[in-house]
Amino acid sequence: MMDRKRDRSILELETYAGRANPMMHRPIVKEEVLDFMRTRQDQLTGFLAEIQQFAANNNIPVIPQETVVYFQFMLSSLLPEKILEIGTAIGFSTLLFAETCPKARITTVERYEEMLSIARTNFAEYDQRDQIQLIEGDAAEILPKLTEQRYDFIFMDSAKTQYVKFLPYLLNNLSENGILVIDDVFQAGDITKSLKELPRRQRNITKGLNSLFDAVYADEKLQTMLLPLGDGLLLIKCKKIGAVI
Ligand SMILES: C[S@@+](CC[C@H](N)C(=O)[O-])C[C@H]1O[C@@H](n2cnc3c(N)ncnc32)[C@H](O)[C@@H]1O
Repeated sequence: MMDRKRDRSILELETYAGRANPMMHRPIVKEEVLDFMRTRQDQLTGFLAEIQQFAANNNIPVIPQETVVYFQFMLSSLLPEKILEIGTAIGFSTLLFAETCPKARITTVERYEEMLSIARTNFAEYDQRDQIQLIEGDAAEILPKLTEQRYDFIFMDSAKTQYVKFLPYLLNNLSENGILVIDDVFQAGDITKSLKELPRRQRNITKGLNSLFDAVYADEKLQTMLLPLGDGLLLIKCKKIGAVI
């Protein structure tokens, strides 16, 4: 599948690979359990398997296999009509959503040219039903403009320090029964530590994630849960009026 355009981008991606998710090397569940979840559950086939392998070979941080299986399970029940994703990278999760929900319209936002050039190539080749709209730019500028949409499923998988800033826009754009999923909230367990215990470069991320948890847990309208898949998923939906939870 690798054409020349994608090959060129691999070289450029070297600047990104070094900043990949720490969880890739510090799993939050026992390694043997992780290995079981990744190898004993259904595997991807076809172009999704190829893109997954391409990401692994090039240290591109895409959702891991246990999260893939969870999204396939959850989205095939939820059947969202409109999906929003913040953080496309090379389009792996976007194309997974498109394959799992063939009738959904998917909007995905990415700001990094090195990723965009591969995502464009992948979408041109594999977005067979023309489901995907790729918005190129910083979500900080794009989200305030997305006011007319209601999404049934939103996946935020971008810069962790910005999550708390993006949260109000995403909640405003969530449909009544919609689900917002936020990725990488455990930071390989660093979220449990005090800032003093952490290397300086990790402190802003942990501070940002702590602010996110504070904002989410202070909002009585929201129902939430944490899942130890990948580097931690935070699931959010709006409580039903009158429900006692
Ligand atoms: C972990 S990767 C996304 C992986 C992808 N969701 C997948 O699983 O296939 C995070 C991406 O978010 C992008 N990103 C980070 N902050 C962003 C922002 N403020 N606006 C748009 N994209 C952003 C990065 O450039 C990176 O490509």
